[in-house]
Amino acid sequence: MKIKLGVIFGGESVEHEVSIISAIQAMNKIDEEKYEVIPIYITKDREWYTGDMLKDIDVYQDFNLIKKYSDNVVLYYKNGSYVLQKKAGIFKSVVKEIDIAFPIVHGTNVEDGVLQGYLQTIGIPFVGSNVYASVVGQDKTFMKDIWQEKKLPMTKYVWFYDAEYRETPEDVLKKINTLKYPLIVKPATTGSSVGISVCEDEKKLIEGIEDAIQYDTKIIVEEVVSNLKEVNIAVMGNYESQKVSEIEEVLSGNKFLTYEDKYVGDGKGKLKGAKASAFKNSSKGMASANRKLPADLDKDLREEVERVAIEAFKALGSSGNSRIDFLIDDKEKKVYINEINSIPGSLAFYLWDAKGINFTQVLDDMINIGIKDYKKRMSKTHSFETNILQGFAAHGGVKGMKGMKGGKLN
Ligand SMILES: Nc1ncnc2c1ncn2[C@@H]1O[C@H](COP(=O)(O)OP(=O)(O)O)[C@@H](O)[C@H]1O
Ligand SMILES: [Mg+2]
Repeated sequence: MKIKLGVIFGGESVEHEVSIISAIQAMNKIDEEKYEVIPIYITKDREWYTGDMLKDIDVYQDFNLIKKYSDNVVLYYKNGSYVLQKKAGIFKSVVKEIDIAFPIVHGTNVEDGVLQGYLQTIGIPFVGSNVYASVVGQDKTFMKDIWQEKKLPMTKYVWFYDAEYRETPEDVLKKINTLKYPLIVKPATTGSSVGISVCEDEKKLIEGIEDAIQYDTKIIVEEVVSNLKEVNIAVMGNYESQKVSEIEEVLSGNKFLTYEDKYVGDGKGKLKGAKASAFKNSSKGMASANRKLPADLDKDLREEVERVAIEAFKALGSSGNSRIDFLIDDKEKKVYINEINSIPGSLAFYLWDAKGINFTQVLDDMINIGIKDYKKRMSKTHSFETNILQGFAAHGGVKGMKGMKGGKLN
């Protein structure tokens, strides 16, 4: 019997379109002998749809088609199975059963642990990082604080809340001014280079902070790496074992990699048009960025990138197939880790392909790791025999609470 694989994509994220592209690329490459692929598309306003037509990129140009010909469903747990059930109709019929979910989503509200939390709440096995690693993998302050603790090589940084900046800007600026200009300002969680700016002096810094604050409650400011060479590598596995992909060098005509560089071939589009073009380049997605693959790196730097990538993946407790991005000072030959993408664009298939592992194999490996993670999770104790509620009732229930020490459950 085939494994029923629910591929979940879309969602309320600025990377919604990119996720559609990644998911369609993947659905086209999943081994159909082994898996029955069930597309599950989450619209920007959080409606879930399923139906075979969702495997075709063209339907996303006309949302009415989706509404008319696919099923509006909810994914939940019913009589021992995970099911997609129609939201409308008197009978609320089950459209499909799912054995395992495969989130191919990017950005906030989906890749960042939010979707994973829902999947874990209903109990369905799923592919990729768990809730904790997903949350940390989206938040640049969390990941950096953890990697700093592990002494991984990073640029110097400072982070703060918007409220701190509003209340005592001079204190925040004082802290930032311990760093060496030029500096780069980033919202902690947005991704896709949204709200990022490079600042040569304090005046520009203030403008950069004002801009970034529009996107996030947490802002991170870092020293800029000069003689910049950007390289990415993927790590596959979980906390127990890992393997690394080929390393790519990403080329940008701009001061830093912009949204356009990432998703539009020539790097010249404007943000509004960029989304549309990203769509047209649908066969490529993140894979359309200008790149050198394999990256031109000498042996020492290559080994350093591989070592740090594995350490970083393990430190966050990541699982599945993550892409880890590095900044290299090409003159000083110094490697700095920049960020992790728990669910990278195009699932970074091209990085594995360059190592002789094709996309179909990558997907199969990821699903197998997901199943292993689920079994591991199930083997741990999640509840205790003692029934605290019984004890609580014996004390007189809610009424008895007044009599408890300070009203607290000790
Ligand atoms: N410390 C830095 N020094 C130099 N360039 C940087 C630095 N941090 C980021 N960049 C540039 O900005 C781009 C976007 O930053 P990144 O941290 O990757 O955010 P995002 O999550 O938006 O991709 C990077 O790809 C790189 O080109
Ligand atoms: Mg990045």
